[in-house]
Amino acid sequence: MKIGIVGGTGDIGEGMAMRLAPLYDVIVGSRDEVKAQHSCECNISTLKDCGASCCSLAGATNQEAVSCADVVILAIPFKNVVGTLEGLDCFEDKIVISPVNPMEKRDHFVFVPPAEGSAALLIKRLLPKETRICSAFNTIAANKWKALDEELTYSVPVCGDDDEAKREVMAIVNKISKLQAFDAGPLAVSSMVEALTPLLLNIARYNKMRDVGIQFR
Ligand SMILES: NC(=O)c1ccc[n+]([C@@H]2O[C@H](COP(=O)([O-])OP(=O)(O)OC[C@H]3O[C@@H](n4cnc5c(N)ncnc54)[C@H](OP(=O)(O)O)[C@@H]3O)[C@@H](O)[C@H]2O)c1
Repeated sequence: MKIGIVGGTGDIGEGMAMRLAPLYDVIVGSRDEVKAQHSCECNISTLKDCGASCCSLAGATNQEAVSCADVVILAIPFKNVVGTLEGLDCFEDKIVISPVNPMEKRDHFVFVPPAEGSAALLIKRLLPKETRICSAFNTIAANKWKALDEELTYSVPVCGDDDEAKREVMAIVNKISKLQAFDAGPLAVSSMVEALTPLLLNIARYNKMRDVGIQFR
């Protein structure tokens, strides 16, 4: 399976690329292909230092990352979702994963959803109707993705309207470290999942914690 990461050079994208590359063919996308290739070289070097024997990681434009992939992860800030998706095509037969959280830092962190109710529902409106969209990975901090010497022991709520796509996304989640996927229901539930991240950031801030995550028990 080929997984393309749009914005794969970013905080969460680089960590995802390193965790996924030993398991899948990963295409790291960027607006700047050279930046993506450089990011991949650094990630491959880090993986080798950590003892990874083989990994599949290649840098490309965001469009190539979409066109080549079976599954596309949109690892871009919420404010850049509309502009980025307007410039990309070939999403028709893809599964698209949104880890995007629309939020702002005011006095504290606040969930600021678009009119559709969530980033995932906005993405659904922007992409072709054949595209199967799931939200996942919303609540795992970038630092944890990048800490390759640590297991990821978090629960990952997955939302989506297409059962087969949701099963495939949950299978991807369950292959990464010790992550555990939970079916959180249809994409309409994604607003509740996206709103967890500002909550986690407020808990981290007011309790002097770092990289707070969730586990369902
Ligand atoms: N950071 C976290 O801990 C975390 C945790 C959970 C979920 N998330 C979600 O994951 C998403 C990515 O977060 P992040 O922290 O990784 O973001 P980020 O590092 O700020 O940005 C990710 C990538 O987006 C691209 N980008 C930046 N400005 C852009 C623009 N104007 N137009 C198009 N692309 C642009 C850049 O790639 P190029 O310059 O290479 O194009 C950048 O490397 C967000 O929606 C966030 O809510 C983040």
